[in-house]
Amino acid sequence: MTAEEQQQATPPAEEAAAAESGEQVITPWDVQGGADGKVDYNKLIEQFGVSSLTQDLVQRIERLTGRPAHPFLKRGIIFAHRDLHEILDCYERGEHFYLYTGRGPSSEALHLGHLVPIMFTQWLQEVFDVPLVIQLTDDEKTLWRGLEQAEARRLARENCKDIIACGFDVNKTFIFSDFEYVGGAFYRHIIDIQRCVSMNQVRGIFGLTQDDNIGKIGFPAVQAAPSFPGVFPHIFGDRKDVRCLIPCAIDQDPYFRMTRDVAPRLGYQKPALIEARFFPALQGESGKMSASDPNSAVFVNDSAKQIKDKINKYAFSGGGATLEEHRSRGANLDIDVPWKYLNFFMEDDAKLAAIGREYGAGRMLTGEVKAELIALLTDIVGRHQQARTQVTEDIVDAFMAVRPMHSALKR
Ligand code: TRP
Repeated sequence: MTAEEQQQATPPAEEAAAAESGEQVITPWDVQGGADGKVDYNKLIEQFGVSSLTQDLVQRIERLTGRPAHPFLKRGIIFAHRDLHEILDCYERGEHFYLYTGRGPSSEALHLGHLVPIMFTQWLQEVFDVPLVIQLTDDEKTLWRGLEQAEARRLARENCKDIIACGFDVNKTFIFSDFEYVGGAFYRHIIDIQRCVSMNQVRGIFGLTQDDNIGKIGFPAVQAAPSFPGVFPHIFGDRKDVRCLIPCAIDQDPYFRMTRDVAPRLGYQKPALIEARFFPALQGESGKMSASDPNSAVFVNDSAKQIKDKINKYAFSGGGATLEEHRSRGANLDIDVPWKYLNFFMEDDAKLAAIGREYGAGRMLTGEVKAELIALLTDIVGRHQQARTQVTEDIVDAFMAVRPMHSALKR
């Protein structure tokens, strides 16, 4: 979601009132923290009615897959779920499930925040060895952002290369753009879903108003449909019983609340979800990352110099105002952006803990922590760029081809 989308999404009266009174407002198009500007994730769990992802569940994933948990799981970055235990039960019994995630192609390149659910999805596919479908919502960005269709389609293909560069298995991954793939079984499911949801429900769930274009009212069914295996006969044949697990950022939850509501009426099981926190903007947790403000985020096509300059200039520091103060009181890790970014991307638990200890006690300085972060991000982004140069147009076509993929279910 970008700043433009936030501005274009007119919040309905009750949401505006909530925001004014300092309550947090989270929709797929608008993320506003509470009075202190921060998102209260515990409150969000309650508001949305999702379950918190406990370390018990994380350990169960480790036991079932025989793999150490992804750092996002251990560190509470993936923090909420719906019915995840049912997917794990299913896996344990040797039954099939598939993964579904997506990306709204609103910018030329992805930023680090976009990478979080994508990297996590790649890990899930690898450890569970299951089919995956990835939706590129070029239609959504045309309806919400006023992008011309040709531009939205071009961005979808560019973003697709960044996604493929994250290491998905071509034999088990189908990537589709809505403009290309809607039709056939997909369209029949969209219409069945639309028939189950009233205008009032969509308005209530998504905060649309009478003045929004009519495409927005219908769109939620397009994002809902891939939660059902019937949309992909080339992967699942006519099976209706294959369960779906959706890794996503928590702001996408409203779409899937709606989806879970209609699933039984269409003879499907509800999709399960596994949900991530938001990735903070460089300016801090209450700032918004925006594709239109290049200085709010690190993008996967940034140069080493851009990364260094952005972190040094813009990453909000929780360090003391003076050296003296910092040495005596230490850094406030709660608000420190370099520290938060390290928590997302530094794999080495022991090194991360040492930095937290030293920085929090004022023995390490902001400049030193930023230097660690710059080295880490330069490496990650550099490797991503290297991988992306290997993604040819033919490879994109291979991932996006509607082809028989029944063997993707074997494991
Ligand atoms: N609406 C999402 C976005 O703007 C894209 C999306 C489509 C998606 N289907 C999804 C995200 C499923 C997560 C899971 O980025």
